[in-house]
Amino acid sequence: MLKIMVANFRHIDLRLVDPPFGSSLNTLILELDYLRRKPLVGTTDPTIFFQLKNIFHLLESIGSARIEGNRTTLADYIERKIEGSKSKDERFLEIENNERALDFIEENINYRKIDRAFLSEIHKIITKDLSLPPKGEGSRNPGEYRKNNVSIGGTKFIPPDFTQVESYMEELFRFINKNDPPQYNLLKTAIAHHRFVWIHPFDNGNGRVVRLLTYAMLILYGFRVDRGRIINPTAVFCSDRKKYYHYLSVADNGTDRDILIWCEYVLKGLKNEINKIDKLLDYKYLERKILLPALKFALERKYITEKEYKILLLAVKKQVIRASDIKSIFPDKLPAEISRMIRRLKNKKMLKADEQESRRYVLMFENNYLLRGIIEALDKEDFLPIPIN
Ligand SMILES: Nc1ncnc2c1ncn2[C@@H]1O[C@H](COP(=O)(O)OP(=O)(O)OP(=O)(O)O)[C@@H](O)[C@H]1O
Ligand SMILES: [Mg+2]
Repeated sequence: MLKIMVANFRHIDLRLVDPPFGSSLNTLILELDYLRRKPLVGTTDPTIFFQLKNIFHLLESIGSARIEGNRTTLADYIERKIEGSKSKDERFLEIENNERALDFIEENINYRKIDRAFLSEIHKIITKDLSLPPKGEGSRNPGEYRKNNVSIGGTKFIPPDFTQVESYMEELFRFINKNDPPQYNLLKTAIAHHRFVWIHPFDNGNGRVVRLLTYAMLILYGFRVDRGRIINPTAVFCSDRKKYYHYLSVADNGTDRDILIWCEYVLKGLKNEINKIDKLLDYKYLERKILLPALKFALERKYITEKEYKILLLAVKKQVIRASDIKSIFPDKLPAEISRMIRRLKNKKMLKADEQESRRYVLMFENNYLLRGIIEALDKEDFLPIPIN
């Protein structure tokens, strides 16, 4: 049926493979399904939650962008966030593009199908303003399928002839959108991930797009990031790229057994990530392990004064505070002085007036010096899926 035009390219059928009854993969699927449906501990104020989620978007994006010295990049990127700088450093553009693509997915996934137009938009977003390979991580044809044959660095695998891309992609979209019984959703996510990079539809950026596709499919299949969940699937693939490439090449063999080995690698990684991140949604944990250490860190480095520390500490404990709460920790201070302290913390972007009620304040940590301590604490708790190199 399909003419083989690239030497060494070997067609494999796109299909669902059933894991053997009682296999560890079957157990994994059940465990993930349990996690998917598990009600989240809803104790965290939405403002805090959304800041956390933004930080995870950032980590997801740094993980996915292929950059030498990821940790330095992370540190530099954090400083850039704190300073609100807009310089056109390509390293940072690639990360920002990825963050934008995540937002795009979250805003659109409930209203749109995963189809050519959807992935095309994602590809345009992630390659925007980046210079062309081999120097840069951009694309000659943003949003369009490749017009040449390609090879992939770091593997012997050869993707199909460019003339076959469109029909392979149509088949993939049918596979993704077909109404299979829900117990296949996670297997489909893993299989579609491999299939997409196996087709390699774009001239560049396939890895970044496929990790976003996985993100989109997980939301579609019920990991509801709009209802208080955070997922970071890229950690599975990018914290150890060697392993990722190894399992992709196993899947290239195309036998049922090899496809299942790939699926198990993906789902095992996902389960670990989801379990880990879910802990953060328990406010007690977040407070003790992340927010309080971050405040201490800021105090020690004198990003904040003792008084500010006390106020922010109260903000961490109560999540939402009023001027009267601050008054209670500084009984000798006049209201004007309290107002001044609040104003100073607002200027430092560490407190923000609550959207519902402007006389209430919430802690901000995603775009100011507190972010350094937050990242430090996340690192200590093993939340940074970033290879040291
Ligand atoms: N053996 C393999 N079979 C199929 N796909 C593979 C194989 N090895 C690697 N890949 C995929 O190819 C991607 C690289 O392709 P490409 O350069 O187009 O993507 P990128 O987004 O620009 O780069 P990167 O993913 O390295 O950041 C890898 O991320 C991986 O997903
Ligand atoms: Mg590339």
